[in-house]
Amino acid sequence: MTDEKKVMLTLPEGKTVELPLRKGTEGPQAIDITSLYQQTGMFTFDPGFVSTASCDSGITYIDGQEGILRYRGYPIEELAGNASYLEVVHLLLYGELPSVEELQSFRGHITHHTMINEALRRFFEGFHYDAHPMAMMVGVTGSLAAFYHDSLDIKDARHRDISAHRMIAKMPTIAAACYKHNMGEPVMYPRNDLSYTGNFLYMMFATPCEEYEPNPIAEKALDLLFVLHADHEQNASTSTVRLASSSGANPFACVAAGIASLWGPAHGGANEAVLDMLEEIGSVDNIEKYIAKAKDKDDPFRLMGFGHRVYKNYDPRAKIIREVCHQVLEELADTNNPLFELAMRLEEIALQDEYFAERKLYPNVDFYSGIIYQALGIPRTMFTVMFAIARTAGWVAHWTEMISDPQLRIGRPRQIYTGPTKRAFVPIEQR
Ligand code: ACO
Repeated sequence: MTDEKKVMLTLPEGKTVELPLRKGTEGPQAIDITSLYQQTGMFTFDPGFVSTASCDSGITYIDGQEGILRYRGYPIEELAGNASYLEVVHLLLYGELPSVEELQSFRGHITHHTMINEALRRFFEGFHYDAHPMAMMVGVTGSLAAFYHDSLDIKDARHRDISAHRMIAKMPTIAAACYKHNMGEPVMYPRNDLSYTGNFLYMMFATPCEEYEPNPIAEKALDLLFVLHADHEQNASTSTVRLASSSGANPFACVAAGIASLWGPAHGGANEAVLDMLEEIGSVDNIEKYIAKAKDKDDPFRLMGFGHRVYKNYDPRAKIIREVCHQVLEELADTNNPLFELAMRLEEIALQDEYFAERKLYPNVDFYSGIIYQALGIPRTMFTVMFAIARTAGWVAHWTEMISDPQLRIGRPRQIYTGPTKRAFVPIEQR
């Protein structure tokens, strides 16, 4: 929405430029600089996009100062524990929570796409036995486009819908196949009579030799974690999906790009890094030493699971996960989990420390999630994969929103060139 008010920008030579203001339904106003280059020949400079809104979006709202997160207007605290992951996926994709009938129909679409092509299954044989599951996820997801030519017309709303359903349905199947490959166990075919997370647990932990029924505690906890990770507006991986898709590339390749971005330790890889860190700290007695390391600018160590680009307050998801962590460990009779004790003490000490208080560094979504995954028997290398499964909902919702926007243009940032200025070519024998 364009506001009637304008911003006046005075250039060094005294010329004044009028720039329109844009505002959404909530959140800060934005100065619309689309005409700035044309009017002034100047760019704006914002590495890391700290002050830049890259698009209009009606999916997720965050107020980082207040610690607010809402999907399509619904506070995360109300969705968590009340709506299932598939209800939330429906909400993100279509803008509304489904009715009982709509959910049934949506679940039907998803469950009918859970299998992957047999030829795709054989891709795994080409990976080394100890390949990181995220490496396999990037490769296998990207190659999905080779199997589904029938629905790759991104201008066709029905094709977009089918691709969206395929990605949401197949991600757990691919993820579990990555785990099975690492374990050297046979891949288990999906069971469509189970819930989304129940089926995932089955594909992960069942073997052809024994009966397996997913633990309802694990099923419920995983569903909640998926709800909390489902979307987070224009984070690095979602922005990657958007930028990749802006060229008109197929959605499977774009989601593979999102998975690659998520893998980094500053983003989705943090949950794996948190447990590595907690193990390295080892005991409550060493916390002070590690806090000092985190504060030391000459030491590359950072407190993993702490800090967030947007939240300058407690991450609302971390609050919920901390609570769930208590419940899950209690229900699984893992109450003396030493890593949880250590994490809670580390949080307490860090929050009292001036360094963290001044910089508004609080635990983020991943500070406690790894402890729950570990209690559910999910290995550490799979933690970021869990995030990828859940975040597929957000990636796909943003992709759909962007592709159906008639104003879509290819994403093409500019730069401030700092290389050599023009110089004459020197033939090789004279260098
Ligand atoms: N430990 C110690 N110091 C920190 C930490 C941390 N975890 N995070 C930020 N800081 C400090 C920085 O050194 C900087 O200090 P300075 O102002 O004295 O130079 C200040 O806090 C601001 O930090 P930036 O790096 O500028 O913040 P930015 O917004 O760029 O980074 C990020 C955010 C990447 C999340 C960062 O806080 C971090 O690396 N955290 C640890 C990794 C992590 O948990 N990532 C998961 C994020 S959530 C997610 O993706 C799901």
